[in-house]
Amino acid sequence: MAMVMDDPMSAAYPTPSFPALRLRRTRAHGWSRRLHAETVLTPADLIWPLFIAEGQGVEEPIPSLPGVSRWSVDGIVARAREARDLGIPCVALFPNTPPGLRTDDGREALNPGNLMCRAIRAIKDSVPEVGVLTDVALDPYTTHGHDGLVSPSGYVLNDATAQVLVGQAQVQAEAGADIIAPSDMMDGRVGLIRSALEGGGHHEVQIMAYAAKYASGFYSPFRDAVGSRGLLKGDKKTYQMDPANAEEAVREVAADLAEGADSVMVKPGLPYLDIVVRVRAAFQVPVFAYQVSGEYAMIEAAVAAGAGERDALVLETLMAFKRAGCAGVLTYHAAHAARLLGG
Ligand code: PBG
Repeated sequence: MAMVMDDPMSAAYPTPSFPALRLRRTRAHGWSRRLHAETVLTPADLIWPLFIAEGQGVEEPIPSLPGVSRWSVDGIVARAREARDLGIPCVALFPNTPPGLRTDDGREALNPGNLMCRAIRAIKDSVPEVGVLTDVALDPYTTHGHDGLVSPSGYVLNDATAQVLVGQAQVQAEAGADIIAPSDMMDGRVGLIRSALEGGGHHEVQIMAYAAKYASGFYSPFRDAVGSRGLLKGDKKTYQMDPANAEEAVREVAADLAEGADSVMVKPGLPYLDIVVRVRAAFQVPVFAYQVSGEYAMIEAAVAAGAGERDALVLETLMAFKRAGCAGVLTYHAAHAARLLGG
């Protein structure tokens, strides 16, 4: 075997072969597997996405997301308490805006008394120790289901949309949001939101940018949950990323970091773990992944079909995100996983 003798690192690393090398030795017992685990998953790695409904005492199950419901604000507060008790540090909020309040320009997003802002305040009043992450994008508020303002020809306008998103972020920050998460993929919006937050005295409010968000087929159950699926005209390919691209994800992340993002997100999750690895290799920043609604639905469908076992699938997929280098994961299985992890 060739050896580079003047390389001390190489000389110090002899590679044994079988039978001196038996990789199964360290796997033979539970205690030893625990001792040798390279990655740990805890409830503190999880962010729990929650859907908000209008009303009081309301729970609306979402058929395409079996096991997930929309909750009225009182129920959202109860879920936040549950998160706290399970050791989940943060919840992510998404409103199902009543149809009568949806408009072409999504102006309900700017209403300080909208469903989202009421839910933020209610959580911060009763369970302030749980972090609240809020989605910035117009799709739960528009009649066309797009994340931004649409031109007469159907193009989603970048700069005009970004101005509205700034206003949306401001009302969320005023209501008490801890992390502003723009999920819209407009260019330049992170910088504009950051300066508006600084100008408004919200120095401590974080920005988690949906930096590498792909135009994905895995979002359909989410669109049911926020009520935009039937409304959506066309697709989101002129603003969300092409699944063919990986180099471009690094540029997206670089741009959002340069504009002041505190952390970045890759979305969807499992089909894009290569993107997580690339981003982690390029930047020393916290990277989160969103295990999205279609991924959750796939696991639940596999369980319902008898093709897999829920607890094993949930823990294995979440561990995969940690192994790839994620700081944390947004997942609809957060509460279930935290229970399994003894949270
Ligand atoms: C909208 C938004 C989407 C998701 C989060 N924010 C859907 C979309 O872009 O159409 C998807 C989350 C999921 O599927 O769980 N801005």
